[in-house]
Amino acid sequence: MQLPDFPWDSLAPFKERASSHAGGIVDLSVGTPVDATPEVVRTALGESSDAHGYPQAWGTPALREAVASWFARRRATPDVDPDGVLPTIGSKELVAWLPTLLGLGAGDVVAFPEAAYPTYDVGARIAGASPRPMRSLTGLGPLTSATRPKLLWVNSPSNPTGQVLPVEHLAKMVAWARTHGVVVASDECYAELDWRDGAGPGSVPSILDPRVNGGSHEGLLAVYSLSKQSNVAGYRAAFVAGDVTLVRRLLEIRRHAGMIVPWPVQQAMVAALSDDAHVAEQKARYGLRRERLRAALEGAGYRIERSEAGLYLWTTRDEDCWETVGALADRGILVAPGSFYGVAGERHVRIALTASDERIDAAVSRLA
Ligand SMILES: Cc1ncc(COP(=O)(O)O)c(C=O)c1O
Repeated sequence: MQLPDFPWDSLAPFKERASSHAGGIVDLSVGTPVDATPEVVRTALGESSDAHGYPQAWGTPALREAVASWFARRRATPDVDPDGVLPTIGSKELVAWLPTLLGLGAGDVVAFPEAAYPTYDVGARIAGASPRPMRSLTGLGPLTSATRPKLLWVNSPSNPTGQVLPVEHLAKMVAWARTHGVVVASDECYAELDWRDGAGPGSVPSILDPRVNGGSHEGLLAVYSLSKQSNVAGYRAAFVAGDVTLVRRLLEIRRHAGMIVPWPVQQAMVAALSDDAHVAEQKARYGLRRERLRAALEGAGYRIERSEAGLYLWTTRDEDCWETVGALADRGILVAPGSFYGVAGERHVRIALTASDERIDAAVSRLA
């Protein structure tokens, strides 16, 4: 299996450069939450520390119900069947293993956006399938049995660009996929972080939204993570939901392989999914950081593109991304080069909002 080099290693010299700044590094390269896990979630975890028995790979009925009601309440998606819900050990492992769990292998194509989270590519390689970045469905060219994807990844809001795909766009993708017998997996982990006017339940449409799929979840999987919305990246708390038959197939292998979310984490997930207040509070924190950072970057001659939603500012100065990474490292600010996300990102950098207010202040004053 040919896995790509771990891209973050190539950022090490820039990290060193940024760290030598007199005021210390402002690390905006990785989207790892920096604020405390909310009390409501920690309490649920703590109260579940007696976990002497094996947990269910399928998740407790209460957790699967909580996911279904979260979809109804937060995503304008009322018809998720709790039988079609499965907790995962964070969403990265599901992204990395989904092609394998679906039985894909040599000769099968896995398609994903041309600027994308690198694990879609990795997952195809782990399965021995062929990764296929694509600008649009038409970019796949004439479909033959050799080029037609078996699995299509959608990521809205996008990491790294922050683009949100509207209902009409997703509906076209679903119709196309159904015509060609393609499974669609939609990674929606930034759905709660919509920065546009009028943001609210359903403003970032889920692939499971009836406006998108006409009321049928056949061939569709939504992937969601609590890492960002609830500051629980260290818990490894996520789920996949949708087509009951597909989810059962995943469950079958996962229970044999011991891919089980620990029971205390399942309990914490129920608490997190049932409480909207902490999600709103965290979003407000990111919103303030985003506004200040955006103004400072624009004032310093950078252009922010897309970035309608999510945890990043997709930024360019119309130069090679490594030049931008270097210029910002000289000011003690570390960002991720767009090339980590594919050749389409070579002239952008991805700037995360995941730093404390104090560090964001430092970045803002260095950009002035
Ligand atoms: C698009 C996307 N999908 C999945 C993940 C993985 O999240 P986790 O494994 O914490 O659930 C990330 C994390 O940054 C991401 O950006």
